[in-house]
Amino acid sequence: MARILVATEKPFAAIAVNGIRKVIEAEAGDELVLLEKYQEKAQLLDAVKDVDALIIRSDKVDAEVLDAAKQLKIVVRAGAGYDNVDLDAATAHNVCVMNTPGQNSNAVAELAFGMMVMAARNFYNGTSGWELKGKKVGIHAYGNVGRNVARIAKGFDMEIYAYDAFCPKEVIEKDWVKAVDSAEELYSTCQIVSLHIPATAETKGSIGYDLVSKMPKNGLLVNTARKEVIDEAGLLKILEERTDLKYVTDIMPVAHADFSERLAGRYFATPKKMGAQTAEANINAGIAAAKQIEDYLKNGVEKFRVNK
Ligand code: 3PG
Repeated sequence: MARILVATEKPFAAIAVNGIRKVIEAEAGDELVLLEKYQEKAQLLDAVKDVDALIIRSDKVDAEVLDAAKQLKIVVRAGAGYDNVDLDAATAHNVCVMNTPGQNSNAVAELAFGMMVMAARNFYNGTSGWELKGKKVGIHAYGNVGRNVARIAKGFDMEIYAYDAFCPKEVIEKDWVKAVDSAEELYSTCQIVSLHIPATAETKGSIGYDLVSKMPKNGLLVNTARKEVIDEAGLLKILEERTDLKYVTDIMPVAHADFSERLAGRYFATPKKMGAQTAEANINAGIAAAKQIEDYLKNGVEKFRVNK
């Protein structure tokens, strides 16, 4: 019988945990171990000691965690971005790493629009704001979340643009979205830019002064991706220079205190990352993770593997 640990500093909804338990215990005959809302890394190091598989969210899995997890065979990041897992260390420990692409993308896209409306309406302070209808929205990276943003933007009757260095233009344009040739073009064209790039060596610190300074008047930058893709000093500088711009983010910047103090009325950050925090996304991603683990342990299926 395999032991499968769900270790979530930010827990899934209870209904999702019940679904995960059903897959692991009732259907596969394995054992579910739960570590929720842990405060210290030591708790994670202790919990991974005797488990065969691990389901995580944004929880960090580094070489130290992998060293402690002597029996571990697979880690599934229940979600899209796996920048929180040390892939090389996992490979060195002979541990398979997977994600569950697409399972929480509608939830993230819906939050992007919630944040857009909130900023467009001046954070509900009683003054006149503006409407999304007819505005140009730029989707920076056309993956699963980006596609959902495009789908929802159609309902708002927006003009939709996208830039993705890796997605062919034909794929973007099949969705009736205008594909542009560069990030610079996206930012200079669109009043609203919604970020959906992963945090990689190439993208880290890539959104800052130069790109954001290109945005049209009353520009709004929405970040439901990662804080690491932002050059915080550069972004803060342009937002201070251009008092018409706003920044809303689901991932609190390191320099949150400076952003709040210097950009009063033009900046908002969620206290905790909320994009994927819906019952539906928790159920989809959590159950997919459990099924992927059982399929790997019992049948060797490696679909969605992200390390070598
Ligand atoms: C993801 O990469 O799937 C999202 O950022 C969600 O992250 P979370 O599971 O920590 O909420």
